[in-house]
Amino acid sequence: MEQYLQLDEWSIIEEGFHPNHHELSESIFSIGNGYMGQRANFEERYSGCSLQGSYMAGVYYPDKTRVGWWKNGYPEYFAKVLNSTNWIGIDVNIDDHPLDLATCKILSFRRELNMKAGYLLRECIVELPNFKQVKVVSTRFVSLKRRQIGAIKYQITPLNFSGKLALTSYLDGDVSNKDANYDEKFWVEVNKQATADCSYLTVKTKKLDFHLTSAMHTKLFHNDAQLELPLLTGLIERDKYVGVSSEFITQQRETVTLYKYVANVTSRDYDPSQLINQAMHFLDEASHIGFEALLEEQQQAWGAHWKECDIVIAGDLAAQQAIRFNIFQLYQTYTGEDNRLNIGPKGFTGEKYGGSTYWDTEAYCLPFYLSTADEPIARNLLIYRHHHLEKAKENARKLGFSKGALYPMVTMNGEECHNEWEITFEEIHRNGAIAYAIYNYVNYTGDEAYLFEYGLDVLIEISRFWEERVQFSKVKQQYVMLGVTGPNEYENNVNNNWYTNRIATWTLEYTLRSLEALRLSHTANYNLLVNKLALQQEELTQWQHIIDHMYFPVDEEQGIFLQQDGFLDKEIVPVKALSPAHLPINQHWSWDRILRSCYIKQADVLQGLYFLGHLYDIETKKRNFDFYEPITVHESSLSPCVHNILACELGYIDKAYEMYLRTSRLDLDNYNNDTEDGCHITSMAGTWMSITQGFGGMKVRQDMLCLAPIIPHSWTAFSFKIMFRHARLQVHVSQEKVTITHEAGPEITIRLYEEVHTLAPQQVIEKPKVF
Ligand code: BGC
Repeated sequence: MEQYLQLDEWSIIEEGFHPNHHELSESIFSIGNGYMGQRANFEERYSGCSLQGSYMAGVYYPDKTRVGWWKNGYPEYFAKVLNSTNWIGIDVNIDDHPLDLATCKILSFRRELNMKAGYLLRECIVELPNFKQVKVVSTRFVSLKRRQIGAIKYQITPLNFSGKLALTSYLDGDVSNKDANYDEKFWVEVNKQATADCSYLTVKTKKLDFHLTSAMHTKLFHNDAQLELPLLTGLIERDKYVGVSSEFITQQRETVTLYKYVANVTSRDYDPSQLINQAMHFLDEASHIGFEALLEEQQQAWGAHWKECDIVIAGDLAAQQAIRFNIFQLYQTYTGEDNRLNIGPKGFTGEKYGGSTYWDTEAYCLPFYLSTADEPIARNLLIYRHHHLEKAKENARKLGFSKGALYPMVTMNGEECHNEWEITFEEIHRNGAIAYAIYNYVNYTGDEAYLFEYGLDVLIEISRFWEERVQFSKVKQQYVMLGVTGPNEYENNVNNNWYTNRIATWTLEYTLRSLEALRLSHTANYNLLVNKLALQQEELTQWQHIIDHMYFPVDEEQGIFLQQDGFLDKEIVPVKALSPAHLPINQHWSWDRILRSCYIKQADVLQGLYFLGHLYDIETKKRNFDFYEPITVHESSLSPCVHNILACELGYIDKAYEMYLRTSRLDLDNYNNDTEDGCHITSMAGTWMSITQGFGGMKVRQDMLCLAPIIPHSWTAFSFKIMFRHARLQVHVSQEKVTITHEAGPEITIRLYEEVHTLAPQQVIEKPKVF
């Protein structure tokens, strides 16, 4: 892959236009604010390869399932986050020639995603086929402070001519999803109006009746915002489209500036009858504030955010840029205020994965929000699953279970919408991640009340599912779990995936332990819960029996856990023995060849050793890491981070660094050759974990924050911030020493390497780096 983006501490920069990578750039330069987001499409028309995408969080479409061979139990639909009204559109005509970068000669081009201040900037000088040269500068952002608002400043300067310039600013709801199953369009028009002052368009989805009103206000200025131009010549209304256009003669080297303010509001938040009023209200406010002041607000909002979660890496610009990019994209995707929302694997940067919720949230994203934001934000991610508990129970019934809950592999509203049998029916380890997230949250925050108020409802139903999903093998005289797919999706329908058996057993243990704690501490609440869930003593006894008699595949000789029964029958050849021409294997090999090979897509046994690290000694981790990592191809974006964290713990600093670069620059360097579909948002949280839990050695043990930092050789220093139990700490690690600064909140006791320290507010401690 050609490295075409510049290195910079705070920005992603493309110098010179790379049309072959344009779709990739559209993903990478995406902007969002948790409420809405969009790919970095050009404002003006572009006839080259492009994926137009503008998305509203939580607005989706249940697209009828399409499969070659229907299997009972498949869901009826695949939920898709919807490409919705294109609100950035500005058509530009110069002496009756459309400005279209695909047909122009590009004399200079630069785009920048400024992560410090949260905006997208593009500057280019182009020559049209009619030899007219123009300079275009566009600045655009979606406001963090005013969620509904997007704003554009679009400047155009004729360089070698005076002539006719026609600009049309529009809202276009006639958009489609590239991944629509039946090439169907999902939106119909409800109402619209174009006026020179303010135009609006309301569209609604053909199913589920999501309404979206977009309202825009366009202003034109001549000569550096000195002279306001009347917007006139045309008001355009057609199906799902409103536009206002203006045509005038411009003079050579005089700049015309178009400001476009847009408010997007949906029926998720307001009654459809209120949408126009609400949109106008937000729009009015924003356009009165004005572009520059809104941008100033934006910089402040991002500034405040960076203050809480920035990671600084000295001595390695590529690593520095990458970590900021990951944090930036994560926060653009999910800000945590709305517990109906979640984190799609591609966020607002593409359509793949439908924008739905995967186990990625619990397994990878939760720690980021636990440590970088206030408690309610991470809590909201858990509440989301609690809200879906009834649907998860229905899902289990649909698959033939008499009790318990099976959370979906992919969901928007709690219903399963994935339809590949080996994943939908078999990748049930996801239930374990949802249970583990409850533990992770309670362990990190100390919020035991959550466990008793919400957590146990979920844990008990998941435990009931495991109880029924395992079966007692007469031959082994142990419980086994047959026909599953572990996290490594390059193996399907295996028996006794170690990770699944382990996380299931662990869930039963944790549920029993939590129940017992509740019984002892709040007997009345315990009794209420038992009644509410009709919990029987026999169930608890059975769970204990399973815990005591679960079968786990192991290889005694090598002292490793086996990914599944029979794993060692495979020919074990390390990835490094493969010709690079075969990688990624998912793009070069038949599925059959992949399934029969020993190659592992992502952490599987090692995922278990990461989650349950407190239960295994370092030697066990080392033996398993040494066996599995060399045969792992890391073709899931979720893989390198777990390997980084374990490698750090094992002192494999070079491997850890290799994994860090791979996770953090996955999209910027397009490692898996698929970023044009969208960025790997959920794995970005894994990148953050690589710094904090990996190099920082951060863990929580017995209610105490523990740190054991190491540092890659090529870094001079790195620092990160974490919130723990309402205190914010900055951890700074150099090659020689570790400095911990108490930045905000109450006194806190932590463990640094083997020593325990109590830090008063504003206190700083400095210790030699140990490893
Ligand atoms: C991974 C899954 C993950 C999904 C969405 C797949 O490639 O194997 O573990 O949930 O992507 O990120």
